[in-house]
Amino acid sequence: MINRYTIIGQPVAQSVSPAIHHMFGELTHRRLLYTRTEATDATFSDIVKQWQASGGKGCNVTAPFKELAATVCDRLNDSAKLAEAVNTIEMHRDGSLVGHNTDGVGLIADIEKNKRVPLVNKRVLILGAGGATRGAIAPLLSANPSCLHIANRSVDKAEILANKFSSYGPTAYSSYDDLNNTASFDIIINATSMGFDNSAPPLPATIFNTGTFAYDMMYKAQQTPFLALCESFGVTQYADGFGMLVEQAADAFLIWEGVRPKTRKIYLATDEIINSANA
Ligand code: ATR
Repeated sequence: MINRYTIIGQPVAQSVSPAIHHMFGELTHRRLLYTRTEATDATFSDIVKQWQASGGKGCNVTAPFKELAATVCDRLNDSAKLAEAVNTIEMHRDGSLVGHNTDGVGLIADIEKNKRVPLVNKRVLILGAGGATRGAIAPLLSANPSCLHIANRSVDKAEILANKFSSYGPTAYSSYDDLNNTASFDIIINATSMGFDNSAPPLPATIFNTGTFAYDMMYKAQQTPFLALCESFGVTQYADGFGMLVEQAADAFLIWEGVRPKTRKIYLATDEIINSANA
């Protein structure tokens, strides 16, 4: 018996999740098949249900369907409820679909455990106020930063998120321009989608200090535009989102298979995994 999983997105050919999960399978001695599935807004719900009806045990959901996935599930766990988005669906034998969001915990695991950058008492800036930011805020606040500042092109969206999560920890918000009026940050996380257009948010030099750690949720074989910008401001400690991708996948695997693979070995095969993308 082979457990079947898929990642649903549009486009999805570039996804390296099959390579990651197949390695997890080898590491944990589980037989599984993990494929890629294209969908549209109109077909997403049927594709999820067909996957379950055909015996699939679960699926991952990537852009642009994470919000839609939250509406398709019968139940959401707390992480998905707070994020209002689902990246992992658990398919039960009784036909029910349970939605989870492992993106935020994956981000924290990569920053704190892999990169050894503690968030406690740090001034943290997150750039963007879309789905990626929404999934990250509660996990970031649970790591007890001294402040979590959300900056976004559309300030109203940053304000809504800062207010929504203010009971979880100290939040603030502004436009990119108004970052000129803040003190510098210890950790700056890019959660915008601007890297896909080869651009980066317009940031003032004043937000960086000599110890700033920069993190881009995006990953690429080459340096991302955001990290290149940070480097031009003198930042020497930074990371792209490959580790977040691996760690969120490990948490999805734990939900489906009941064991969290040791991710250390996956990082030894980073090039092989990145080259597994079909696009
Ligand atoms: P995701 O699910 O990847 O977060 P999203 O919800 O569409 O995608 O959010 C994209 C984020 O990137 C938003 O914060 C968006 O800013 P706006 O809320 O102002 O739209 C940001 N973004 C995308 N393109 C941008 C651009 N050209 N300039 C500034 N911000 C941009």
